[in-house]
Amino acid sequence: MVKADFGTDFQWGVSSAAFQTEGAWDADGKGPSIWDTFAHRKGKIKRGHCPDITCDFYRRYPEDVAFVKRMHIPNFRFSLSWPRILPNGIGKPNDKGLDFYDRLIDHCLAQGIMPWVTLYHWDLPQALQDRGGWANRDVLSWLSDYAACVAKRYGDRVIHWMVLNEPTVFTGAGYFFGVHAPGLTGLRNFFPAAHHATLAMGEVGRLLRLEIPEASVGSTFSCSSIHPAGSRRKDVAAAKRADTLINRMFIEPLLGMGYPVADLKSLRGIEKYMRAGDDALLPFDFDFIGIQNYTREVVRHSFFVPYLGARIWPAKHRRVQPVTEMGWEVYPEAIYEMIKKFSAYSNIPKIYVTENGAAFPDTLVNGRVSDDQRVQYLQSHIAQVLRAKREGYNVHGYFVWTLTDNFEWSEGYHPRFGLVHVDFDTQLRTLKDSGKWYGQFLSSQ
Ligand code: FCB
Repeated sequence: MVKADFGTDFQWGVSSAAFQTEGAWDADGKGPSIWDTFAHRKGKIKRGHCPDITCDFYRRYPEDVAFVKRMHIPNFRFSLSWPRILPNGIGKPNDKGLDFYDRLIDHCLAQGIMPWVTLYHWDLPQALQDRGGWANRDVLSWLSDYAACVAKRYGDRVIHWMVLNEPTVFTGAGYFFGVHAPGLTGLRNFFPAAHHATLAMGEVGRLLRLEIPEASVGSTFSCSSIHPAGSRRKDVAAAKRADTLINRMFIEPLLGMGYPVADLKSLRGIEKYMRAGDDALLPFDFDFIGIQNYTREVVRHSFFVPYLGARIWPAKHRRVQPVTEMGWEVYPEAIYEMIKKFSAYSNIPKIYVTENGAAFPDTLVNGRVSDDQRVQYLQSHIAQVLRAKREGYNVHGYFVWTLTDNFEWSEGYHPRFGLVHVDFDTQLRTLKDSGKWYGQFLSSQ
């Protein structure tokens, strides 16, 4: 497999996110985000890890962008920190915050690297959470004002925009299970947050297109290939319900199909938060969809799980090998299956894989990180992307998660996903063997 097999229009990249890398949590007028608050609550982050500094990307971005260049990666996806730009979420922008992204964008462009910008990668300004956050419908106007501000500022230089990162995960983990910020639970938080997130993608998509006519506008969606544990009718039906929740709930309303309530009855609860006219507001014709896949899930019927009647059968209980540091099964066909699944929707113009990667227990020995498992992971997944492309499916790009080891949300610093190793005590960076491999692959003919 060589790069040329994918053709010249195929977009190669690497992805990251502001909160996971920037640090500088209160520098130059930045306001607190829900993740700053949540991470400082006792017991919320494994081993008590603290995100205040993380990779210090805010100050060290030239060094990190140099790695992007060294690996010949033409596209760098990163997110903007909303509270760095608008410390209170709304109102007067913080000039120093805006300046930072000017510097970052200009620096990328000067190195010949295209910036791909995610507007919202989970770090809601705390001031807005104090007013209900995603569960408050006002979030639509808050996010729109923020989007208008950054579109005006960076729209002359940034073409690729993504509205949200993984609405399923931030509403599910943050507003239903309470394991991510802001730590809320239950359907009375989840349903309004989910509906507002879905509406926000269309609303802000329309706004970006107006502000920046030449923009390519998208949003990113987590997805996992869902397999029933066996051929029992009950397990097959459970897998279908899980697939509806995990893979279909957020994308289908945007494609004009409405919420998939027919295949998951308990989703009807979301209708309580819909207002007259919302059906017409939900659809938006994105230029592209980012899909983000790491593994598959094997699902069983479960009488004890309310609303869903299904339970994930974890890889460790299935005794499959290999699994990553996250406990996720390495199952490369999943990415092929997901490209195929999303290609079946007739009205998605382009699909990019905007995240794929793996955490393994890397060690730095004599200046080298020999992360063969990650090399294998990337090779086998990229091969499945090629398989999908060769079969004519709608895939046009692939981005590795992630550039540098960073703060992996409630898991802290333990899972290392980077192509570049970071020593969090000294901030020393080391290109891993996987980064060397990706660089060779991208420079191949
Ligand atoms: C995705 C997130 C990203 C990172 C990876 C491992 O769900 O978008 O920020 O945490 O998982």
